[in-house]
Amino acid sequence: MCGITGYIGREEAVFVLLDSLKKLEYRGYDSAGIAILHEGTVTVRKTKGQIRALEEKLKNERIRGTAGIGHTRWATHGEPSDVNSHPQTGASDRIAVVHNGIIENYLRLKEWLQAREVVFKSETDTEVIAHLIDYYYRQGQGLLKAVQNTLKRLEGSYALAIAAADYPDRIIAARKDNPLVIGLGKDENLVASDIPALLAHTREVIYMEEGELAVLYRDHVELLNSQGDHIVRSPLHVDWDAEAAEKGGYAHFMLKEIHDQAKALSDTLRPRIKAGDITFDEFDFEEFCGNARRIVITACGTAWHAAMVAKYAFEYFARIPVEVDIASEYRYRNPVAQENDLFIVISQSGETADTLAAMRLAKKGGNRVLAITNVVGSTLAREADLVLFTLAGPEIAVASTKAFTTQLMCLYLLAVKLGKLRSRIDDTEYRACIEDLRRIPSQAEKLLSTQDLIQRFASRQFNKHKVFFMGRQFDYAISLESALKLKEISYTHSEAFAAGELKHGPIALVDTHTLVVAIATQTALFDKIVSNIRETSARGASSLVISWEGERLFESVADEVFTIPKTRDCFSPLLSIIPAQLFAYYCSIQRGNNPDKPRNLAKSVTVE
Ligand code: F6R
Repeated sequence: MCGITGYIGREEAVFVLLDSLKKLEYRGYDSAGIAILHEGTVTVRKTKGQIRALEEKLKNERIRGTAGIGHTRWATHGEPSDVNSHPQTGASDRIAVVHNGIIENYLRLKEWLQAREVVFKSETDTEVIAHLIDYYYRQGQGLLKAVQNTLKRLEGSYALAIAAADYPDRIIAARKDNPLVIGLGKDENLVASDIPALLAHTREVIYMEEGELAVLYRDHVELLNSQGDHIVRSPLHVDWDAEAAEKGGYAHFMLKEIHDQAKALSDTLRPRIKAGDITFDEFDFEEFCGNARRIVITACGTAWHAAMVAKYAFEYFARIPVEVDIASEYRYRNPVAQENDLFIVISQSGETADTLAAMRLAKKGGNRVLAITNVVGSTLAREADLVLFTLAGPEIAVASTKAFTTQLMCLYLLAVKLGKLRSRIDDTEYRACIEDLRRIPSQAEKLLSTQDLIQRFASRQFNKHKVFFMGRQFDYAISLESALKLKEISYTHSEAFAAGELKHGPIALVDTHTLVVAIATQTALFDKIVSNIRETSARGASSLVISWEGERLFESVADEVFTIPKTRDCFSPLLSIIPAQLFAYYCSIQRGNNPDKPRNLAKSVTVE
């Protein structure tokens, strides 16, 4: 996720900004840059790579100035490169902008500006913001008005810091759907994406609210609401230590990322729903999917579980056969590629060795490949024919959480759209599905607020010798992912199986040391799962059911029931995984582990 800093005071801004940017490194980034105001000029320096590379670039020059803005970029539009790094500047190179977020209508704005002879330098959505401000400013509007008029035209999300050569006494900041915090110092003021970037200067902060704009001067800050009215807000005193601040106050990155999911789901969904229709700006959906006779999906680990969910989803909505394979299996089994196969690879990092090998094999066999990944500029993103990005922001904890749910969101969008294209669902059903998907982020938010229940349950169950997850269809796929989460970070022996397989072997392992977690969201199969739970209880196992809010059936069958907000049965994986993630997290904590860095595991498996 991009990091923003802004400073105005008495110190050399270059050093303040570089130090603050380092405090935002935990957010993940692929390039960095600064813009410094001094005597009617704005000097921009930026580079692909680490802050170290930017420092290297700056080493032989002295950029004077006590005001400026800085940025660490996590690429979303355009690969990581010097030119795509922020700050981005307007046509006159006198207005510099740093941005965190996604401008959904940037292509339309770009065309509008190009029609007015504006020439673009980068592939970023951010550049339209710089040009729009510049455009309005050159029309004779003051800087503030130019910014306000620009904001009115932006659809999507943003946190912005703006520096203009003609206004060396101020920095402007604005936010919508992305965080910004103002730090109030003595004879200096700052703005940043997060508290850690401010702590070296002040502990007095003001959280900017939705739609607000701030003008920072050295000796005071003006705060305006979206109507342009001045508002007054008392600062808060922050007493977090720097480490807690990096995790947004959460004890671990994993917990933060579990909580990030409501926003990540919304960020991934929103740009792809336009005028009640699912649209992919990234590629021509009909051209890619129109002739598909079969879908082949390959991935590793958690991403493979997303593929398992997708199999059910594509078959359900689009009635198309789907083959799912673990990438390390696919690459060595001499697979049969067929003409008109639609090949999808899924990878958070975009660097997993087996997934890359599977993709290369598919391409060699003549398939066009669609990659779903979280990392712009990754090898997978570069080599695939088409890419759909999950907009989860960087995932830092080793165990994947928000990458998984955003992969699911992309896959559901594809499945529902394909169902419509193949006339397997009608218009009414299509629109109803979109509405249900739109509700998922707020339902996830609601579900996350019940985490205390799960924490208490984990504190009673964390010592179980074995935990078995079971479910049918979509719930089977989520059982697989739940068992992986638990084993990865709590080191508890956990397995998942299709509930119908219970009698074919796994029941031999069930005893009084076993916890059985049944995921039960497929209403048509409730009776069957009830029987499966009874069979395990009869052998002394404790049981937990994860099912729908308002469903009473399981209360008399299981020892404990967690509920999730009701959506249609086929979308349940987007929600049912959340309690399982939290359960894994709290079991890990109870066992004294560090859930962010589980033993023997790496975030990105770049070798076989
Ligand atoms: C599980 C986990 C791993 C990854 C797997 C694939 O929590 O993180 O199983 O899902 O290594 O990684 P990507 O998605 O980067 O290809």
